[in-house]
Amino acid sequence: MISLEKNKAIDKLLSFGVKAETYRYFRIKKTSDLYTVLKSNSLPLRVLGGGSNILWTKKFQGLLLHIDTKGISVEDESDSHVIINIQAGENWHQIVLWALKNNYGGIENLALIPGSVGAAPIQNIGAYGVELKEVFIECTAINTETLKSRIFSLKECKFNYRDSIFKNQKINKYIITSVKIKLTKKGYHKLSTNYGDIRKILGSDVPSPSKIAKAVIKIRKSKLPDPKIMGNCGSFFKNPIINKKLFDKILTRHPKIPNYLVNKKYKIPAAWLIEKLNLKGYREGNVGTHKDQALIIVNYGNSSGSDILKLSSMIQKEVYECFEIKLVPEVVIW
Ligand code: EPU
Repeated sequence: MISLEKNKAIDKLLSFGVKAETYRYFRIKKTSDLYTVLKSNSLPLRVLGGGSNILWTKKFQGLLLHIDTKGISVEDESDSHVIINIQAGENWHQIVLWALKNNYGGIENLALIPGSVGAAPIQNIGAYGVELKEVFIECTAINTETLKSRIFSLKECKFNYRDSIFKNQKINKYIITSVKIKLTKKGYHKLSTNYGDIRKILGSDVPSPSKIAKAVIKIRKSKLPDPKIMGNCGSFFKNPIINKKLFDKILTRHPKIPNYLVNKKYKIPAAWLIEKLNLKGYREGNVGTHKDQALIIVNYGNSSGSDILKLSSMIQKEVYECFEIKLVPEVVIW
């Protein structure tokens, strides 16, 4: 017999540190419980993983399922690779540490990304030159209406920059229950050291997965506020990708605009746009942009989700007025 918790405060489950409440709540410890709950549920549904990418703005009048299933198993192994299957509720960074301990490579650049394994494919997590899609084999997910479980292959996930089928055609239709990834063994690692300061930090050291992870952790810790100390969800907006016409127009005013070519379009760091508007380190009451990374909105304490939303709308408006660029939140707004 499943018993749902009622009118539950879930502030502690969200890294933004805002007040948050849900009408009904259930923590999923076993995938079989997921079937049981879904079978008898008629309420609107939301699924929570690590809570590190969600801005909660009002009480949810439905059922919140908190995925907390644990487990990691080696599914296949060769001289060069290992395939592991991970339950959705595992913490992503703990999996990175597990891989490093076993000398497996492929996810070291993704160290310290907060959040759960089940959430990783939804936005194709990425950092320091690597994205989940590079190690992804498949994931298993349950259809919330038919309760049928199915596998999504790499191709079917339609991964893109911070994007997948789970944010588009299949939005809210599936709950990811496990993720399979392929990691390299010693002698077969393909290391990625080109992003930002990684190489500088490595110096003359011969790179290895654990040295790269250490460098990434050092960079992240120097720029990104720890949500345990200061509420935040990492980058609030995606980096916009703009066409050549608009890029050329901005270039005439800002010849030094940083940019990365992506399929003949230009990816611009949203942090740069925000900083150009003198909004880096900007603070309004208890909400602001971080002093070392303009793309991170921080909660200095006791802010509400709607205070944060208000600041984010102001930033979007200013960026649009100055650059004609529409910033799209990376964070999910509920
Ligand atoms: N920049 C500024 N001002 C700032 C910060 C950065 O102008 O305050 C400019 C600089 O030109 C810098 C460039 O932006 O070279 C890129 O900055 P950074 O390396 O900090 O990365 P980002 O584009 O702001 C993205 C991801 C991060 C990820 C880093 C590293 C997005 C939306 N964010 O940030 O992911 O850790 O690259 O790979 O793509 C997250 O998703 O929550 C997240 C933190």
